[in-house]
Amino acid sequence: MDRENLSEEAVSELLSGIENVRLNEEETAVVIIDQTKLPGKTEYLELKTAEELYDAIFELKVRGAPAIGICAAYGMYILSKRIRAENGLQFYEKCKEHAAYLNASRPTAVNLSWALHRMERLVEENLSHTPAELTEMLRQEGRRIQAEDAAMCRAISEYGVSLLREGDGILTHCNAGPLATSRYGTALGPLFLGKERGMHFHVFSDETRPLLQGARLTSYELEQAGIDVTLICDNMASIVMKNGWVQACMVGCDRIAANGDTANKIGTSGVAILAKHYGIPFYVLGPSSTIDFQCKTGEDIEIEQRNPDEIKSKFYARPMAPESVKCYNPAFDVTDHTLISAIITERGILRAPFESSLAEAFPERAGAGR
Ligand code: MRU
Repeated sequence: MDRENLSEEAVSELLSGIENVRLNEEETAVVIIDQTKLPGKTEYLELKTAEELYDAIFELKVRGAPAIGICAAYGMYILSKRIRAENGLQFYEKCKEHAAYLNASRPTAVNLSWALHRMERLVEENLSHTPAELTEMLRQEGRRIQAEDAAMCRAISEYGVSLLREGDGILTHCNAGPLATSRYGTALGPLFLGKERGMHFHVFSDETRPLLQGARLTSYELEQAGIDVTLICDNMASIVMKNGWVQACMVGCDRIAANGDTANKIGTSGVAILAKHYGIPFYVLGPSSTIDFQCKTGEDIEIEQRNPDEIKSKFYARPMAPESVKCYNPAFDVTDHTLISAIITERGILRAPFESSLAEAFPERAGAGR
């Protein structure tokens, strides 16, 4: 999306009412909904320091690829307000340090580095400006990144809903709704939009072990919106497909390689394999900020490994595994492009071969590498 396209008025309009990630009124902190507390408690956190921002992203208090990019972008603005620099170059050096630090919080979702790179580049391209002017530019850029995300989610939702019919059963994995993005979400966007238009869907939400984003967040968001949702354990996806209850799978994404291979929450590739077996379309929905043309294939995507305690003890009243047992806890897997029926972006429904459909839909990005 071209940043020149959105007027300040359009940005404000797109941002109105967005609660999951925003600036506080005094613009001294990034405010997030602590997603680790949902659905039991809606608690807002104010993130003021680089460490607080890093920890909130690392601990998944704010999560979902677009949301962490937006949080980091606003974070750069908040941190830039405290930079003591005499000129643009000194200011830029400090910005680079902040960006590198925040970027280390999570490796797989490209939206994080994409947003940080965009903030950093803006400063680099305007070194002749004063630190105060550059700070204001960062403020506006953070707002634009979030507004563009809201617009992209809306467009994705429109394309997505065109693939669904009244009464369809949809299976989704992890959480790619408003909490993870801006307003409609990506994978859940077509369901919210369809609902607004009077359509009815039956959604199966994988609980999404080990961190339960499906149980805690997706079923919560859908229930709140009055959409029929049934929570299932991840290992029940096969039976609901076999029963004929699923007409389409819709998932979000954390990084799409140039050939269409897609990293998303661990377990997504298994859903795609099952969908192929049962002849069910498998759709990946994501904004262009999730496409990484620098990754030629999924082999180039770094997969985040997380603490074994997430498997052994988190969410249990007492540990459920021998204390010393080895664990393998990758947070994401890569779905092979051959399993994907379509990638739905803000520029349309892209089909195989993805190498050319992605490059044709986003020529400016494919050429530039990112
Ligand atoms: O570890 P998480 O919860 O941040 O993982 C999130 C996902 O895998 C989502 O499906 C993805 O970020 C898309 S959000 C629109």
